[in-house]
Amino acid sequence: MGCAAVMQVLLLTYCVFVAAGYPFKTPLDLDVTPRITVFNRGLRGCRRFQSSTVNYSTMLLEADSEHLYVGARGVVYRLNASDISATSALTINWEVSSDQKQQCLLKGKDNETECFNHIRFLQRFNSTHLYTCGTHAFRPLCAYIDEQKFVISAQPEEGKDKCPYGPTTGYTALIIDQQMYSASQYEFRSFPDIRRNSPPPTLRTEDAPTRWLNEADFVGSALVRESLSSSTGDDDKIYFFFTERSQEQTTAYSSSRVARVARVCKGDRGGRLTLQKRWTSFLKARLMCSLSEYDFHFNMLRSVFVVPGQTPQDTLFYGIFGLEWKNVKASAVCRFSLTEVQEAFQGPYMENQDSGSNWKEYMGKIPDPRPGTCITQALRARGINDSTSLPDDMLDFLRRHPLMSQKIQPADRRPLLFRRTTHYTQLAVHMVQSLDGQTYTVLYMGTDEGWLHKAVEIDGQLHLIQELQLFEEPQPVNNLLISAQQMSVYVGSPSGVLQLSLSDCQRYTFCYDCVFARDPHCAWNGAQCVDIMTQSDRSTLIQDIQFGSRGCENVQHDVMQRSRSVRVGDDLLLQCELSSNLATPLWTLDGSEVQGYDLNSGLRIGTDGLLIIEAQQDQSGLYTCHGVENNVKVPVLSYNVTVNPNLPPLPPLEPHEEPQDLVPTLPAPTEHTSAERPVPPPVAPLLPRSELLSPRNMEAIYLSLITILGSLCVVLTTVLVYVGFCLRVGQRGKYSLRAASAAYPCSRRHSKNRRAARSSSNMELKTISNHHNGNGVCNGGSKQQNGDVHDGGLLQIVPGGGHTSLNTGPPPPAPPLPPTPQHLPSHCDFPSGLSATLPSVLRRMNGNSYVLLRQSDSETSSPVCYSFSEELNRILEKRKHTQLLPRPDESSV
Ligand SMILES: *[C@@H]1O[C@H](CO)[C@@H](O)[C@H](O)[C@H]1NC(C)=O
Ligand SMILES: *[C@@H]1O[C@H](CO)[C@@H](O)[C@H](O)[C@H]1NC(C)=O
Ligand SMILES: *[C@@H]1O[C@H](CO)[C@@H](O)[C@H](O)[C@H]1NC(C)=O
Ligand SMILES: *[C@@H]1O[C@H](CO)[C@@H](O)[C@H](O)[C@H]1NC(C)=O
Ligand SMILES: *[C@@H]1O[C@H](CO)[C@@H](O)[C@H](O)[C@H]1NC(C)=O
Ligand SMILES: *[C@@H]1O[C@H](CO)[C@@H](O)[C@H](O)[C@H]1NC(C)=O
Repeated sequence: MGCAAVMQVLLLTYCVFVAAGYPFKTPLDLDVTPRITVFNRGLRGCRRFQSSTVNYSTMLLEADSEHLYVGARGVVYRLNASDISATSALTINWEVSSDQKQQCLLKGKDNETECFNHIRFLQRFNSTHLYTCGTHAFRPLCAYIDEQKFVISAQPEEGKDKCPYGPTTGYTALIIDQQMYSASQYEFRSFPDIRRNSPPPTLRTEDAPTRWLNEADFVGSALVRESLSSSTGDDDKIYFFFTERSQEQTTAYSSSRVARVARVCKGDRGGRLTLQKRWTSFLKARLMCSLSEYDFHFNMLRSVFVVPGQTPQDTLFYGIFGLEWKNVKASAVCRFSLTEVQEAFQGPYMENQDSGSNWKEYMGKIPDPRPGTCITQALRARGINDSTSLPDDMLDFLRRHPLMSQKIQPADRRPLLFRRTTHYTQLAVHMVQSLDGQTYTVLYMGTDEGWLHKAVEIDGQLHLIQELQLFEEPQPVNNLLISAQQMSVYVGSPSGVLQLSLSDCQRYTFCYDCVFARDPHCAWNGAQCVDIMTQSDRSTLIQDIQFGSRGCENVQHDVMQRSRSVRVGDDLLLQCELSSNLATPLWTLDGSEVQGYDLNSGLRIGTDGLLIIEAQQDQSGLYTCHGVENNVKVPVLSYNVTVNPNLPPLPPLEPHEEPQDLVPTLPAPTEHTSAERPVPPPVAPLLPRSELLSPRNMEAIYLSLITILGSLCVVLTTVLVYVGFCLRVGQRGKYSLRAASAAYPCSRRHSKNRRAARSSSNMELKTISNHHNGNGVCNGGSKQQNGDVHDGGLLQIVPGGGHTSLNTGPPPPAPPLPPTPQHLPSHCDFPSGLSATLPSVLRRMNGNSYVLLRQSDSETSSPVCYSFSEELNRILEKRKHTQLLPRPDESSV
């Protein structure tokens, strides 16, 4: 067949490209897959607060009074923290007048988003009052809230020094002993600034001769009471976390933006002559979060969570970092210890040589007292009682040397977690004591699309326990709060506030399920998976966080059984969906393992079931599906299969044997097209075959295949041309592009967790794949609309020496990210010949990796992609109707 030859050539070409496109060798284990995926409709025990308002931007949890205060657009709420959906919510309306709105419009602001009073700040002021600030249609105001009466207690006051003008401007602020510390680029045109506003003297950062902050985008701040355990009389300090334009250029690596931590002393009063009304204790240092093996630097700090330790010295900072390329969703989680932050501030300074961008480590003499230190006993003994008595030469040095040379490395020397296709926006950390008394770090992380990931740290590595889809409509998680008292996590988003239980143990239905989850909250009590906090007698509970495999050996585990009977020569799908994304399926027939990978055996094992092609009588028997996880094999479901001798064809709706022991928790059988057998070799059918499989139709399929593969080539060519173009551009401009040896058109492989990434799709086509699949044609170069990073070796951006802004010009293509084990192709193993045509190309059998094809609206912008999935869906849709009547899960086809 000519068509076949053409296709083979195309496939071969593709294989060569794929094989050549992988420059990486050592995969990282950091990009872990969430064990359980829970879609919105499957959320349990979740409470929502929603109203006519939007933009729930600020939250304040008062553990004592059990109140959750929420600031939204033009309104402040007081909710009952134990049940936020209760109707007892109190409201303060704080809207802008139409006059002010008009003025905001005249300033050229957007009346749909900006000309409102977005509440940006809400914290406790004293025992009776809260303090709040709002953008107030680009004229910020602040006000006291009488907690008892829940009203604004006096006329709102000027807020322009405490609160940004816009709703999305980076901002962080704290009230410490009734003094407000805030950091933002307050007005659009102003320089970013860290301020202490009240009481006097007001302090700020310095702009000349050295600007201390450069386009800083603040994400968090924290007070660390370092005076508490200090023998030197050291002061408390306030740490600010942000991303800013980098000043220093080093030869090894340079980037336009870097993550930073800055700190000031709480007792700072400014200088007397030098640095008057300026901080005399401001220092900043770079926070590193890198995959150094790949020279991959996560420079954008998105969120910080501070975990206090036993002593102030044990404080830990957890940060979510992203890449500078806006169209790449990758995130990394890094953890820093306060001790190492302090070390950097004790280390050498950087110096600006010629007021250009040439920053070098300062090697000269450092003035005494050391610039940037707080007032200590030693200084007081020298008569320096506060910062106004500090010598001018020391202050002048500080003024010019705000930046430390030492970069702060993560405590673990690498990220705790790295996700290529997830954009985390927020995190919150909770310490949980497990059964054995060990304390585990549990992280809750929110994404830009409204998912919540729960992770536990085990030996310096994160295990993702589950991912939850919080909202039907994708929207960013703007806020995360944890209450140990309420055993709840609160999530703020544009559309509402959500309250979820910290644990979700009932989701796990049998002992191993509970143990595999490795959730420190959960343990098996002999009958069900329970939250250990609710158990008074913990002696019989089973939990294994460390290995996630031990304890259930002697626990009775019932396996449900179903019956299937088919005629000889028919295809049969034995469905078995594993709830865990980490489990691999394993099938046994009458106790011995079924080898489903051999293409000639007529058996195929997928993630959702076992397919028996043209069943023979000797294939009757008891098939058992097992999930293998953490090296433990757990039976899930059994099928008693009877293959009957070839009888005359029966009407299509022949009565089937009813399934026995159907357990209600089993997911309802969905229409998995993967159940269909691949297009068979053109043998003369003995039984009446469905129309689809007629030679005419086969031809049509081949033809469409050729079309598809042809378009693959077009994409390939386009990409190559694009690479060439970029290369030329790159030589002139900011980037030089290291082109991988080949363009790889199908790099957008879909991992199973992509199910989570996109929920809006209206069709899910689960296929079972080996390493390479021809379906990922929608690699739109830099167009990463679904947040997918192409994991092929298409382009690598190596920022060069330019200074041009990243925001100007077309966005650079996304860089490739290091591969992970489950995605790493080892070889290109298409079957010889074309016995397995399109459908099996799409789902190569290997229970270990997954391919999901989805048709979603967002993909329509890529014509190639669209037509491809369209085509495929049509073919499969047709096959479904012709082949899988009446129910794909039942008996004979
Ligand atoms: C406010 O909410 C609206 C609607 O949900 C959203 O479009 C907008 O981006 C939000 N604005 C901010 C500043 O969060
Ligand atoms: C909050 O709700 C719980 C139960 O719904 C109730 O027992 C409690 O009294 C409420 N608290 C407040 C402060 O209203
Ligand atoms: C914003 O202004 C436009 C015209 O200037 C007007 O049509 C629209 O209704 C305004 N929207 C709001 C929310 O006020
Ligand atoms: C708290 O501060 C408010 C506003 O300044 C003031 O009116 C109130 O008296 C203060 N309360 C206490 C207990 O000091
Ligand atoms: C510093 O404080 C000490 C004791 O409080 C006092 O004796 C001394 O005069 C002060 N020094 C200055 C320079 O103010
Ligand atoms: C399977 O079904 C057949 C008849 O349908 C029955 O004889 C046999 O005992 C069953 N086997 C098991 C293990 O249940």
